[in-house]
Amino acid sequence: MAMFPPSIPNYFIHKYSDSGDLILDQFSGRGTAPLEACVLGRVGIGNDKNPLAYVLTAAKVNVPPIKEIKDRIRNLSDIYRDREKSLTTVDDWKIKMLYSEYTLKQLCFLRDELSWRTDYIDTFITAMLLGIMHGNSHSYLSIKMPNTFSMAPNYVKQYIENHNLEQPKRDVFYSLLKKLERCYQVVKTKGMAYNEDARRLTQISNSSIKLIVTSPPYTRVIRYGDFNWIRLWFLKKESREVDKGLFCSASLPKYKEFMSEVFEECWRVLDDEGTCVFVIGDVKDKRSDESINLANFIWEEVAKPAGFSLKEPMIEDRINDETKVSKIWGNTRGRATKVDRVIILTKG
Ligand SMILES: C[S@@+](CC[C@H](N)C(=O)[O-])C[C@H]1O[C@@H](n2cnc3c(N)ncnc32)[C@H](O)[C@@H]1O
Repeated sequence: MAMFPPSIPNYFIHKYSDSGDLILDQFSGRGTAPLEACVLGRVGIGNDKNPLAYVLTAAKVNVPPIKEIKDRIRNLSDIYRDREKSLTTVDDWKIKMLYSEYTLKQLCFLRDELSWRTDYIDTFITAMLLGIMHGNSHSYLSIKMPNTFSMAPNYVKQYIENHNLEQPKRDVFYSLLKKLERCYQVVKTKGMAYNEDARRLTQISNSSIKLIVTSPPYTRVIRYGDFNWIRLWFLKKESREVDKGLFCSASLPKYKEFMSEVFEECWRVLDDEGTCVFVIGDVKDKRSDESINLANFIWEEVAKPAGFSLKEPMIEDRINDETKVSKIWGNTRGRATKVDRVIILTKG
C-alpha cells in the first residue's frame, strides 16, 4: 500500500549516486527503492518496522541462486509428504474460510518450517508465498478475493457467502515453483534489510549513506498491519501488535514530532555530500476537507529547523488514474493521494 513506482527511486539513484554507494530507504514497504539500487549496482539498504515489509525487502536485496531456491522447495515438499499424515491445521475460522484443508495443511507446515529471519533462501520463499497468499486468479492459494489487501474478516466471510465461493485445492509447493518461474531475476549487487524503527537505525553507521530515497507514512491513518492480517498470520504476527509499532496518526503535532526524530536520524546516517529525497503526498484535513501540503509542512517545520537545505526546488507530481501504482482499489485512484511532492535536501 502507498507504493511509489520504481521510476522514482531509479531517477534519483541515477542522478545523485555512483556505483557502489549506499542507498537507504528507511520506510521501504515492499522494497522498491533498495531493489532499484541493487539493480543499478549500488548497495540498497531497506528498513521497515512492519515484519511483512521487512520480508519483502529482504528477499529483493539478497536474491539466492535459482537452483538453491528450487532445491529448497523440493526438499520442503519431500519432508511434507513424509510427515503429511501426522500434520494438522489451525483452528481459526478466519484462516479456515480462505483455504481448502489440503492447502491449509501445507501452509501450516511451511509456516513452522520456513526460517525467514535467519536463512536468505527461506526469506525468498516466504516472500514469494506472501505474494500468492490471496488474490483473484488461479495463481493465488485462497478463495477468489477482490483485493490484494486483506479486507476485515467479517467482510470476507460475508463476501464468501454472497458469492458462494468454495476454497480451491491448490498445491503450495507447485504454486511456489510457478511463482518462481514468473518472478525470478538476477540482481547485480546485494543489499541489506532491517526491521527497525526509522527513528533509530542501529545497524547503520554515521555518515555512511550517499542517498536517502523514501516515502514516509503520511497523516492518512493507514493501518498497514490490519490491511495485511492474512499475510501477517503466516509470519505468526498479530496485525494489531504490528500496527502499534508503526506511525499511525492524523495529528499534525504528532506527525511533526515523529518526523523530527526521523530527520535527526537522517542527518546522522547521511554523508556530508549526500542527498535526501522524501516523497510525500498531500492529505485532506478531515474537518475542513481542504488539502494539506504535507511536504511543505515537513520542509518548513522539520527539515529546515534540523539544518537541511533544499538542493532543488520542490517537485510536484500530479497523479491520475493511469499513472498511479497501487491497484488495490481496482482501476480508479480510490483513496490514493492526488498530488505527491518530492523534497530534495542536502546537509547544511
Ligand atoms: C508510504 S509506505 C512506503 C511504501 C514504499 N515506498 C513502497 O513503494 O512500497 C510507509 C512505510 O512506513 C512503514 N512505517 C511506518 N512507521 C514506521 C516506523 N516508525 N519505522 C519504520 N517503518 C515504519 C510502514 O510499514 C510502511 O511500509
